[in-house]
Amino acid sequence: MISTLLRAEAITAGYGKMAILHEVSLVVSPGEMVTVIGPNGAGKSTAFKVIVGFLRPTSGRVIFDGEDITGLRPDQVLPRGLAYVPQGRIVLPQMTVLENLEMGAYIERSQPKIREALDRVFTLFPILAERQTQKAGTMSGGEQQMVAIARGLMTIPKLVLLDEPSLGLSPKFVALIFDKLVEMKRSGYTLMVVEQNAARALAVADRGYVLELGRNRFEGTGPSLLADPEVKRLYLGG
Ligand SMILES: Nc1ncnc2c1ncn2[C@@H]1O[C@H](COP(=O)(O)OP(=O)(O)OP(=O)(O)O)[C@@H](O)[C@H]1O
Ligand SMILES: [Mg+2]
Repeated sequence: MISTLLRAEAITAGYGKMAILHEVSLVVSPGEMVTVIGPNGAGKSTAFKVIVGFLRPTSGRVIFDGEDITGLRPDQVLPRGLAYVPQGRIVLPQMTVLENLEMGAYIERSQPKIREALDRVFTLFPILAERQTQKAGTMSGGEQQMVAIARGLMTIPKLVLLDEPSLGLSPKFVALIFDKLVEMKRSGYTLMVVEQNAARALAVADRGYVLELGRNRFEGTGPSLLADPEVKRLYLGG
């Protein structure tokens, strides 16, 4: 039995000679929503890049679904059931919503499976079903973020990594995206989410990690981190 879905173990990584992550460890179990918070430049996005294979660690291991995927390329990692929604709500602006979603399923050849994936994302994001023929570039920021997330879900992943899904959105869309994260967890997705909006992320997450200067600084359940005086003082603005 696999009790952990993802285990990043003592990851050390950086760009060129510059070390950014120092023995960072992150664990996600099936069904969990785990959040990763920490100041700008702490290495949160870098940790995701290592997990997905955009960056090779200098030491440490990444175990996903029982297999060592350390150093594999993204095109080798993503088909194993990892979805990655990068920071910056990247959509293909000239393509329609439907085309964006179909691009997300590029590794899938079976039409019934693509249909099933589409049905699932349209259940989660009904607005995308209504806007299938709209060019993604003409949608609002929050709507584009939904397209970016939905595209990630088109592979029917075992684990979804979301980097700053609420960044730069209006309060209304921030609330909507958090509602969607909760809905995704309820409908069975396993999620790891990097968030600037630390208090809100900890309030909905099962567990959280605080990274600082490329190191694990705190970890615990969402409620315990929210209640921790040091975490409050340092990261929650009070
Ligand atoms: N491609 C790159 N080349 C060189 N340095 C980089 C590169 N990408 C990130 N860095 C550096 O690595 C450090 C960690 O960056 P990273 O993007 O992982 O932080 P982050 O915690 O995601 O921050 P933010 O909250 O601002 O998104 C920063 O000092 C950043 O300047
Ligand atoms: Mg980042």
